[in-house]
Order: sequence, then structure tokens, then C-alpha cells
Amino acid sequence: MEPTVTPIDATLGAVVTDLELARMDDATWKAVEQAFHARGLLVFPGQHLTEEAQVAFANRFGNIELLAADPEQKAVAISNRKPDGTIMGPDEHRYKSLRGNEGWHTDSSYMPLAAKASVLSAQVVPSAGGETEWADMRAAYEALDEAMRRRIAGLSAHHSLYHSQAKIGHIVQTGTGYGFHTKGEPLRPLVKVHPVTGRPALFIGRHAHAIPGLDEAESEKLLSDLLDFACRPPRTYAHRWQPGDVVIWDNRCVLHRARPYDYRQARVMRHTRVAGDPATELAPTDRDERAAAYEPSASNR
Ligand code: OGA
Ligand code: MN
Repeated sequence: MEPTVTPIDATLGAVVTDLELARMDDATWKAVEQAFHARGLLVFPGQHLTEEAQVAFANRFGNIELLAADPEQKAVAISNRKPDGTIMGPDEHRYKSLRGNEGWHTDSSYMPLAAKASVLSAQVVPSAGGETEWADMRAAYEALDEAMRRRIAGLSAHHSLYHSQAKIGHIVQTGTGYGFHTKGEPLRPLVKVHPVTGRPALFIGRHAHAIPGLDEAESEKLLSDLLDFACRPPRTYAHRWQPGDVVIWDNRCVLHRARPYDYRQARVMRHTRVAGDPATELAPTDRDERAAAYEPSASNR
């Protein structure tokens, strides 16, 4: 039986039911992949995947991006609850990274190879808040007026996690965890053409800064004006999680952010990230300097 794909009342997103992600036949997988390309974000309520099944589902979309030093670890906890069961305090590094997720972003754009997709599942949810929200950058690009499209054509921005975390007061030393182990700042065009659908999309978010050719103030203003304009209805959807829900989104054309909640309560999510295809997700700046960009001592700032 084909799964039921119900579009969300926004320019992106669909809720997919009448399937078990852990046991898809070929026809079901084809329907899911097609819906992923059409809608950019798929919500699968009540799947309760094991970690292994979540990794297997993500793996259908491509290679798993390793977010931890351990190559066996293909899923990571996005959680304010520590392994000992206590809740993180506001001064902890991981807590600041979680708060950073509250700014609109796309995953791994600050890495030489940006992510294709991310899978998130809810394990423990707070009593209120803690939604995840997504915004459709294909529809945002389409909604720009001609003058703005002309202005941004040919512009690129640097992407940096040091920069985006510094903006919320989190100053991080090189070498302190994922995204902080390289100094390279990939330069990525503001308009990205989707490798499968061919649709142009804005490629912006909190990691983007320092547009070459503009001074710092102009660059910040352009990027924040674009973000403000882009992340509005009907281009957004916020999901109120139930434990067991699984979501996948396309980082190549969709931004996302976490919404606040009472941080004294536990919120435990499981994240698996699908690596980008180097042919289309490797930053143009890095195509010639692949080796240098992956080298922790690279200093191309
Ligand atoms: C992520 C992320 C948002 C959330 O896992 O990449 O940004 O709502 N998560 O936890
Ligand atoms: Mn994220």
C-alpha cells in the first residue's frame, strides 16, 4: 500500500502516514523520496524508531555525516539532559550549542561539505514549547522581487559556526567539538540551485556572514533583511513534537530552528545527519583546496 502524504498548509512540508519507516518496500521508499523532493520536509508521526532503524532510514538518503569523533556513532543526542540524568546549566558548552540552534540555520553549512538532510526524532519532550520550525527557501526566493534577485545574483557569504556562536556570546576555541575543529570558512552562493529539482533557493541562515564585496554593516543588513523576509508564513511550519515522531528535512533548501522551552525540563532528541554529495554540497572555495580545508591547521580566513 502506498503511504498517505498529506501536504501541510504551508509552501513546504507533508505529514506521511500509513507506513512503517523501519520496513519500507521499494514502492513506499520511492513515494517517500519523491515527497521529500517535492515538499522539503516530511513529518512521520508515531514511528518510535530504534537508533539503528533511524540510522538505516537516514542512510537511504546518502552517507551518514559523522558528528562525533567515534565513527561508530551515527546518531547524536540533541539534549539538555546529561548522561548522568541531570539537566545542563546555562554555562555549559553543549547548552550554548543548543541555544544556538534557536537561530535559523542549515546544518553543516560551516563545514567544507554541507549536509544534504537531517533526521530528528523526539525521545523526551518538555510540557510546553520546544517545537522545531522550518522555513522554505525555495518559496522565499520565488517571493523576492526582481530587484532583490538581481542584487543577490552572484553574491556569496562565508559560513562559520565560530561567527554564529559568537553572536550569542559563545566564544569557542578551535578544537572543542564538532564544527569547531576547522578554521576554514566556506564561501557559498546566496542562491543555491537544488541538484535534483533544479529549483533555486536562498542559502542563508545564522552561520552566513561577510559577503565579499560588501562592507560588514551592509553584509549584515542584507543577510538579516533576507532572513526576516524569508522566514514568514506561508513559508514556515512549526512542529509540536510527541515522543516517537520522526522528521526529515532537506538542508539544501530548508532552514530550521529550535523553539525555546523551560530549560529546567528535559528535552531529548536524536539526530542523524545525511552528508551532502561532494559534487553539489562542497563549497566552491573548497573544491580546489579540498585537502587544505579539511586540515585543522588550515587558515583561509
Ligand atoms: C538540529 C537542530 C533543532 C531542534 O538537530 O540540527 O537544529 O529543535 N535541532 O532541536
Ligand atoms: Mn540544526
